[in-house]
Amino acid sequence: MKLIQITDLHLVTPGETLFGLDPLARLEACLADVERHHADADAIVISGDLTHDGEPAAYEALAERIAELTSPVHLMLGNHDRRDTFRAVFGERMFEEGFVQKSVDLADGMLVLLDTLKEGAVEGELCEARLAWLETQLEGAGEKGAYVFAHHPPFRLHMPALDGVRLGNSEAFAQIAREAGNVRHIFAGHVHRPVSGNWRGLSFSALRGTNQQTALVFEDRFVTSHEPPAYAVIFADSAGVVVHFHDFLDQSAEAFASS
Ligand SMILES: [Fe+2]
Repeated sequence: MKLIQITDLHLVTPGETLFGLDPLARLEACLADVERHHADADAIVISGDLTHDGEPAAYEALAERIAELTSPVHLMLGNHDRRDTFRAVFGERMFEEGFVQKSVDLADGMLVLLDTLKEGAVEGELCEARLAWLETQLEGAGEKGAYVFAHHPPFRLHMPALDGVRLGNSEAFAQIAREAGNVRHIFAGHVHRPVSGNWRGLSFSALRGTNQQTALVFEDRFVTSHEPPAYAVIFADSAGVVVHFHDFLDQSAEAFASS
């Protein structure tokens, strides 16, 4: 199966900018590129921080922009989102047991999309109810395997500023994943960096957001950067997982292809 991951849109009220950039224009460029090259994707997952401050107008702009896409779009929440305003725009149908979480059953496996938002905090959490939900979903995925999407990564990146705001109870997550034994990969948002590795036997990846990024600084401070935005093209089946990172604003790839 082919999946697209887009993350950390940080949309603001249309017309406003964030870190000197226009998040909505960035999202539009991203979606146009996805539609042009990957309309055959089985799913597009937008893994949280849909908005920067949970503004209703930002959610409304997102709803409009994703309405015409060919592939099914699945939305997740991040620490910058607000469940109430998200609910007001997208409705109760986006919620399962009170959280924006769901499983998507595809031919090559189950996508398990978590809601790691701990409102009012930068770090994430999976409360007892969400851990129980995760356990049930992994059980349901069975031998097909589960591809887990989480805004907050449970793993460390050895970047103190990011490691301090990851999934707070990552040990509980690790224990459930280990007992289920069928988690094929963890796809994270939140860190605004392209990175992959292996955590407790589980492969993982994260990528840049569509607006601002996190600079590669290994000190305990956040440094925002203007590195190029990206989305991920993912191929996953029983043989394994491949994640490509695409800098969709980089025109040099197009120029090369057409020469
Ligand atoms: Fe973010």
